[in-house]
Amino acid sequence: MQMIEIISLKKKIGSREILKGLNLSVKKGEIVTIVGPSGSGKSTLLRCINRLTEFDSGDILINGVSVREYNPLELRRIVGIVFQLPVMFDGSVEDNIAYGLRLSNVGKEVEKEKMIEMEKEIKKIAREVGIEDFLSNEATKLSIGEQQRVALARALILKPKVMLLDEPTSALDPKNEENIENLILKLVKSKGITVLWVTHDVAQARRVGDRVSVMKEGRIILTDIPEKIAWEEVYV
Ligand SMILES: Nc1ncnc2c1ncn2[C@@H]1O[C@H](COP(=O)(O)OP(=O)(O)OP(=O)(O)O)[C@@H](O)[C@H]1O
Ligand SMILES: [Mg+2]
Repeated sequence: MQMIEIISLKKKIGSREILKGLNLSVKKGEIVTIVGPSGSGKSTLLRCINRLTEFDSGDILINGVSVREYNPLELRRIVGIVFQLPVMFDGSVEDNIAYGLRLSNVGKEVEKEKMIEMEKEIKKIAREVGIEDFLSNEATKLSIGEQQRVALARALILKPKVMLLDEPTSALDPKNEENIENLILKLVKSKGITVLWVTHDVAQARRVGDRVSVMKEGRIILTDIPEKIAWEEVYV
């Protein structure tokens, strides 16, 4: 079963073709890392998948359904995204984790039981990512590493099927990088989440990827298990 299927994806920005007929399939529960030179279109690809940006032709299927057929809110629940620099809203850590949950309840009257259930979920996920002691802190005042944990919790609380990670550890110091990398691995594997993980760090791509895709000038030119890739020929 393919969880993500990208078929002949093309996208222009202005008159420049950024994605040039890109193909990639990712199986359920698999982690595929994407490496490739700066400007090759890695972030643009991720943004097309959860429709932060539109594509021109081709298609992207999530769980067999085109992203164009999903309701956008539903798509962003199923497909979580974490960026290099965490985006924190004004408010507490708890508010930041609950953001997506509350968004999906806007305009609805939420019963008391559901509120209690949401509180429990927030505490559980905060514990899983290691920020249970910061729930009432101002989110924007946390360190980048702590904020990245909040960003992860915000995505994970929606129980996504897919996570898109755009260099999630590259703004961190080496110790935090290792911690967050291991945390992401543990969480996505235990929850069976399918992952596309963009990284500049070839060593990381080999460590965490079940398979690695090499991207060049708007195309995936190679996808294979790390052991089979001729790394000396991969220029990133
Ligand atoms: N909004 C935009 N307007 C104009 N050009 C853009 C825009 N977004 C992306 N591009 C261009 O598209 C190309 C691909 O950008 P993208 O951010 O996807 O690359 P990337 O592979 O993620 O690079 P990096 O490794 O530096 O993050 C780049 O040449 C970039 O300048
Ligand atoms: Mg990028």
